[in-house]
Amino acid sequence: MKSEMTKKFIIAPSILSADFTRLGEEISIVETNGADWIHIDVMDGHFVPNITMGPFIVAACNRTTALPLDVHLMITEPERYIDAFIDAGASGLTIHVEASTHLHRTLQSIKDNGVKAGVALNPETPASSVESVLHMVDLVLVMSVNPGFSNQRFLPEVLPKAREIRRKLDQTNPQAHVQIDGGLNEHTLPDSLDAGVTAFVAANAIFNHPDGPAIGIKTLKRLLPG
Ligand code: DX5
Ligand code: ZN
Repeated sequence: MKSEMTKKFIIAPSILSADFTRLGEEISIVETNGADWIHIDVMDGHFVPNITMGPFIVAACNRTTALPLDVHLMITEPERYIDAFIDAGASGLTIHVEASTHLHRTLQSIKDNGVKAGVALNPETPASSVESVLHMVDLVLVMSVNPGFSNQRFLPEVLPKAREIRRKLDQTNPQAHVQIDGGLNEHTLPDSLDAGVTAFVAANAIFNHPDGPAIGIKTLKRLLPG
């Protein structure tokens, strides 16, 4: 069994910037140094202009770590692949509102499988687009870059939206996380924290830290309360 996905503040290293020739070792380093979840970025070359990993990599991660696997699906028609990612060992599946024709149904089918359900919004997508599903999700992912690549510049203009979503969740579903993803580092993290974000994804700032991923994750963790 994976450890619980419910904790107050979460750091989720994205393996998109890990050295894939040593993936198990890289995951083990961040696990030992305080990672709460492992974030896995799935891209299909349609929804975003990049192709990355699929269920096969999720299954490999599942064999190498006890941490929850936080799988971010940047794919069109996510409903077609939910079962494959659940079978591979995903602990949470996050789907994009822009890519989901039947958002409610797909979120419900994720939950029905006992997996945490998340909904993600691109930078230009308004908070109102997810309002009708806020009561049922475990996580709302606010993209702070245009999805597709790691090591892009943080877009501070998404912070009012993160704050608005946090406020709305507090009214109906206070346990749910607001997660931020893209361009996070020690300089951009504090403003997200102030906006009410509780789950932080980082790829480049951790795995490409000049002093290595152990220092990368510790540097971010130090900024979080508790
Ligand atoms: C972007 C992905 C992110 C990305 C973050 O499309 O969803 O998870 O890996 O990378 P950094 O932290 O380098 O911006
Ligand atoms: Zn991501």
